[in-house]
Amino acid sequence: MTVKLAPSILSADFSILREEIEDVVNGGADYIHIDVMDGHFVPNITIGPLVVSSIRPITSTVLDVHLMIENPDRYIPQFAEAGADIITVHVEACRHLHRTIHLIKETGKKAGVVINPATPVESIKPILKYVDLVLFMTVNPGFGGQLFIPEVLDKVKQAVSWREDFDLSFEIEVDGGVNENTVKQCKEAGVDVLVAGSAIFNKKDRQKAMNILRNA
Ligand code: DX5
Ligand code: ZN
Repeated sequence: MTVKLAPSILSADFSILREEIEDVVNGGADYIHIDVMDGHFVPNITIGPLVVSSIRPITSTVLDVHLMIENPDRYIPQFAEAGADIITVHVEACRHLHRTIHLIKETGKKAGVVINPATPVESIKPILKYVDLVLFMTVNPGFGGQLFIPEVLDKVKQAVSWREDFDLSFEIEVDGGVNENTVKQCKEAGVDVLVAGSAIFNKKDRQKAMNILRNA
């Protein structure tokens, strides 16, 4: 199975966001990864539902919305309404994780759960049968262009084996520091979806950058 690519628009030029998105869609993006940050859960502020609703008409590509925010329950309906296809919440930000995942499902969208590099993989075991996507942060969330934390791949391997043991079908995604030097180990660990921001948008030829990641 070939790996899916989810370019993260965090590293795109926001003044020409439409062209940036069209560029990676033409390059064969499987998902468009959208990083939502609130300045509380992470030390950075990015975009909200308004931007997601502006992106929605530009492309039919899956919009993969990564919520790095406190109290995600409050905003899930707005992101669903704005046109997100997958909504992913941090286990560290959810007091009642099952409730939050069900809230996403009630909107008709796919539900994802994400954990930070220092959070044990056991924390997501009880929720695996309810999610469509498990995202492993391979950097501490907040910024693009950080260094990949390779130890996270042990958690990926554990998730691969649980998926088989429990006969589940969620996708496994990694986010942070994915580039031509780290992509191979991600694939070997069993990752299905690669998020990449700087490794794609900081390159002039995005199609070439995406092919490098895909074919590594
Ligand atoms: C980081 C974000 C990532 C970010 C990845 O908090 O969740 O999606 O855009 O950027 P790179 O690929 O440059 O590490
Ligand atoms: Zn992200």
